[in-house]
Amino acid sequence: MTRTSTIYIYQTCGAETRQFFGRCTSCGDWNSIVEEVISTSNLRSRNKRDSSSKALSGKRSQPISSFNNEPVKRIFSGYKELDRVLGGGLVAGSLVLIGGDPGIGKSTLLLQSATEMARYKSVLYITAEESSSQVQLRWNRLQKDESSLHLFAETNLELILDEIEKFNPTVAIIDSIQALQDPNLGGTPGSVTQVRECAAALQRLAKSKNITVILVGHVTKEGMLAGPKVLEHLVDTVLTFEGDRFASHRILRTIKNRFGATNELSVFEMQGKGLIEVLNPSELFLSSQNAPGVAKIVACEGTRPIAIELQALINQTSYPSPRRTATGIESNRLHQILAVIEKHLNLPLSRFDCYLAVAGGLEVEEPAADLGIAAAIISSYKKTELPKEIVLIGEIGLGGQLRAVAQMQLRIREAERLGFSCAIIPKFSNSELSSEKYQTIDVKEVTNIREAFEIVLKLI
Ligand code: TYD
Ligand code: MG
Repeated sequence: MTRTSTIYIYQTCGAETRQFFGRCTSCGDWNSIVEEVISTSNLRSRNKRDSSSKALSGKRSQPISSFNNEPVKRIFSGYKELDRVLGGGLVAGSLVLIGGDPGIGKSTLLLQSATEMARYKSVLYITAEESSSQVQLRWNRLQKDESSLHLFAETNLELILDEIEKFNPTVAIIDSIQALQDPNLGGTPGSVTQVRECAAALQRLAKSKNITVILVGHVTKEGMLAGPKVLEHLVDTVLTFEGDRFASHRILRTIKNRFGATNELSVFEMQGKGLIEVLNPSELFLSSQNAPGVAKIVACEGTRPIAIELQALINQTSYPSPRRTATGIESNRLHQILAVIEKHLNLPLSRFDCYLAVAGGLEVEEPAADLGIAAAIISSYKKTELPKEIVLIGEIGLGGQLRAVAQMQLRIREAERLGFSCAIIPKFSNSELSSEKYQTIDVKEVTNIREAFEIVLKLI
């Protein structure tokens, strides 16, 4: 007889409890609890499935050097920029998760990539959110010609697994994991148990048949990938697709990659006929106009350097305490830099409002932007333009000293490529790096913020 019982599951960490608590006892998160009804027969059938692994009990461990280390086989995803974030292409038998806000273009990106891949590999596109005709409408919009891409509109996990097994594609795309439903389990599609079990079943199939599976995942209001954290642990690669709703460019980032570097980044642009890859993102984010309060930096995401424009506006305040807002940069960093400038350059900034923004709606997390932020603030305060062809890179310490940042060579090379003639950077402690010669860019090494601005102000 089937008996049912109720358990409570926290959607963020996947922890289970028998009692309702507002706050998760394992991760401390509030209000993420959801009630789920499970039937004991389901548990039994799950155990039955697991017992099949006993067949493998003859398997033994081996010394690590005895394995054949064949090079990882990569499948070209159809787009160079998508390959970049994947670490050089899709790995056979791996599981990739792409997360992003609704309407950002996940389905478009994957449909375009699937069509390209279908030219030389067998690809199955499983749509659980849209009907086949909706996907076809989008496909027509992308203006693709004949393709051997296979489409399967289904939400039932058993039928999907069956179709993948029969069709045996090289790449299977599931849009989205939150819309799948395992009929053997309770709960609505998208609940923790459903997402976890569906992803685990797909992973088993991917590994046993050496099929690459790409999953689309939703994100929550807070911008986290929806569903249990186990989903991120389970897959080999996690990518996020993000962008400003008001801008046409979209950024694809690597959050986790078992087969390549993390923090890789590539840029796409949404146009009338789908997504176009942007091969030189620096040119997208730099404007040709100069103004007081504008400074340029070279940020580095993974192995990709990107030149970015920072804009500051300093205004005498009319409030008892000055207003400080930052877009694209953490506001604590802005406060810290303002305090350092006030103390070490004797500028009375506490009587001024400060607004700071990163052009193009980008977000810059790394401290290498500090010197550029300070330069933008000083330029706006002094109402004078910084020279157009200067970039500033470096982290500012609380004592006003400059600290070296990672990937300096790469950043300077990018600045040189873009035609900058001067780079102000922290003094290298590494003699190998400082002996590097650049042809068209003058690299000025400084030890503290005062020295940096003596040089900048002389150039103005
Ligand atoms: P979609 O790929 O459906 O997003 P997701 O799967 O992440 O929810 O998003 C498509 C959005 O992009 C939609 O708002 C329409 C727009 N779009 C274009 O601007 N040009 C195009 O060629 C296509 C196909 C979509
Ligand atoms: Mg979609």
